Amino acid sequence: MTPEGLERAARMVADSGLLAVSSGAGMSRESGIPTFRDAMEGLWARFDPQELATEAGFRANPRRVWSWYAWRRERVLNACPNPGHVAVAQLAEIVPELVVVTQNVDGLHADAGSRGVVEVHGSIRRVRCLDRGHAFTGELPPYTEGEEQDPPPCPVCGSPLRPDVVWFGEMLPVDAVQRAWSLAGRCGAMLLIGTSGTVWPAAELPLVARRSGARVIEVNPHPSELTHAADVFLQGPAGEVLPALLAAIRTAAR
Ligand code: APR
Repeated sequence: MTPEGLERAARMVADSGLLAVSSGAGMSRESGIPTFRDAMEGLWARFDPQELATEAGFRANPRRVWSWYAWRRERVLNACPNPGHVAVAQLAEIVPELVVVTQNVDGLHADAGSRGVVEVHGSIRRVRCLDRGHAFTGELPPYTEGEEQDPPPCPVCGSPLRPDVVWFGEMLPVDAVQRAWSLAGRCGAMLLIGTSGTVWPAAELPLVARRSGARVIEVNPHPSELTHAADVFLQGPAGEVLPALLAAIRTAAR
């Protein structure tokens, strides 16, 4: 990221009125959560995430898919928000209106203090049953690295429990989609953080914002499929760029 880029981005954020933040897995990378496409570390390297993160994959091997999510949930619950999450939460205190839309299922934006986060891919912290969608609010069995667990049965209908996340081929939650797309159409600027832009429909959000006249600022160590749509590309990790952007906005506001 360059000082000029930071300054331009700071002005766009300061002038945005309504700032939309759209984050992907890169947002949580510095919290120790692997991005989706490198989430297959160690034990799971031999499986294809696109196979595990599907209903068919779960029905074919509930034990393996439930255990993979139990492993990821354990990592999420032991993770802390990084300076990037904190900077986004603090941004909300200095711009007129800020709403976070995230593809992440880890809940770290909320842990950092962001309120009203729109989770378009659900949450790994929530569990529901496969056949009827009964929300499960009980205690889940503890998970230790390397073990395989059977998904517990739903206490209401007996069908196996599953993570309350959006699997490949599934519809996104209707209310989250309505809020996210409405926000993209109304915002003055969108801060696009840590997404490869390879998964639709979430990848469309910055394009909706741009078509509606918003400025798009991208934060990513590498160019993505969406960099072409950005007015400013702040190259670098979220945990460094976002605190620097926050400081630049505070300086400009003096
Ligand atoms: N800060 C910011 N961005 C980062 C960082 C970092 N420290 N480290 C990596 N990135 C970027 C990568 O360059 C990449 O562009 O984060 C992006 C991660 O891309 P993906 O792994 O594809 O994650 P994401 O775009 O969120 O995937 C979208 O696909 O697999 C599904 O449901 C899953 O929500 C996920 C969705």
